[in-house]
Amino acid sequence: MKKPLRKAVLPVAGLGTRFLPATKAVAKEMLPVVDKPLIQYAIEEARAAGIEQFCMITGRGKTALVEHFDIAFELEATLRQRNRVEAMEALKGTMVEPGSMVTVRQQVPHGLGHAIWCARAFIGDDPFAILLPDDLVLSDTPCMKQLADAYNETGGNVVAVVEVPREHTNRYGILKTGADDGRLVEVQGLVEKPAPADAPSNLSIIGRYVLMPEVIGHLAKMERGAGNEVQLTDGMAKLIGNQPFHGLRYEGTRFDCGDKVGFLEAQIAFALARPDLAAAVRAFLPKYS
Ligand code: UTP
Repeated sequence: MKKPLRKAVLPVAGLGTRFLPATKAVAKEMLPVVDKPLIQYAIEEARAAGIEQFCMITGRGKTALVEHFDIAFELEATLRQRNRVEAMEALKGTMVEPGSMVTVRQQVPHGLGHAIWCARAFIGDDPFAILLPDDLVLSDTPCMKQLADAYNETGGNVVAVVEVPREHTNRYGILKTGADDGRLVEVQGLVEKPAPADAPSNLSIIGRYVLMPEVIGHLAKMERGAGNEVQLTDGMAKLIGNQPFHGLRYEGTRFDCGDKVGFLEAQIAFALARPDLAAAVRAFLPKYS
């Protein structure tokens, strides 16, 4: 019997060095794409997959992320007084069920694997999702919902995967692939940031995962991997052979918003997907090409 997927971990403790100086006092995950911070896209996507409990792995200077999902009493009272219906509506997605969001501190950013290990008490014995808010996916069906559906089919671990140019394998976690039906691919091995010559494929993991709680025991060993960090990929690799492990070629377009060009592209793509903005954006775009 598969346990239902109800929990999500959102690591937001990274330093965001590629976005300095913007990220000196503001968390990278609070940067907006159009008018919504990255963290809110991630929470909304998780909710659309039936997830009810959220754990943000935070660090110093990240309090705005917590504030964002709290009641802004004075602001809401003022908007109500002024009858600003649209503005009040815009705040709705920031409301979470009381008691459904917790935070855990990762005091030192020792890597994504270490960040996930910090959520061990929240995870307990349950399957859990991971969403990296700086990976944004524009799709018809929310990416995490696609993964949750695949988990309900296969059980075990499921990660979202996409083909990347071979010369970019050293930026991502890469799969060694087994049986492949074009949508779901059996994972036989995982390598973090391999050089193109050593990469077992060009299928890369993006920041959406459904994992079994046993990964925590492997992460607890705190073995250092690529970049001398505790890598989630290395912990996941230890699960292979003991539990089902699949990659899902999701439907949609991923934007790496941790990178300047990816972030700028996401602004344009998400604006063009908005009926209230598309025409105006399309009108100015030719000026810059
Ligand atoms: P990145 O590799 O993008 O690192 O982390 P970063 O620090 O956020 O950004 P740069 O490279 O310095 O610009 C991927 C995800 O993992 C989280 C980050 O917050 C981001 O969501 N992370 C990374 C942690 O929570 N803790 C870590 O120790 C490392």
